[in-house]
Amino acid sequence: MTLYRRLGGADAVARVVDLLYDRALADELVGPLFAGVDMARLRAHQTDFLIAAIGGPERYEGAGLRAAHSHLRVDDARFDRMVQLLAEVLADAGIDPALADDVLGRVSRLRVAVVASV
Ligand code: HEM
Repeated sequence: MTLYRRLGGADAVARVVDLLYDRALADELVGPLFAGVDMARLRAHQTDFLIAAIGGPERYEGAGLRAAHSHLRVDDARFDRMVQLLAEVLADAGIDPALADDVLGRVSRLRVAVVASV
């Protein structure tokens, strides 16, 4: 069974993404980076992106990760904070710790595409 199926499919991923951005917007370190962003569009794109990243259907039509983040100059501290917020959301959503670790591992491997190279 794919990680996508074990996590509960599209609805479960959409709920996790929603909770993640609710926390990210309220976070003093990463929140300011979302100023002026169409959050409804970002939540939808992020959901499609994560669904594909964990073995679900390929529906993502947004920009590549590097292109989507290059103007933001994301540093390692902000990347770590987003991963930490995702870990908290997965735990609070009652996701099995082994499944959560699998999701966090896959997301963490995307650091090189998101974090600005000097
Ligand atoms: C592995 C981690 C991450 C993934 C998988 C990810 C994924 C995405 C995706 C799929 C988009 C949408 C691109 C589009 O609509 O074409 C996006 C946009 C965005 N991401 Fe990330 N992201 C990650 C980490 C971060 C971090 C650490 C930050 C900031 C702290 C961040 C801030 C943003 C912002 C502000 C946008 C909107 C850009 C804009 O529309 O101007 N992301 N991200």
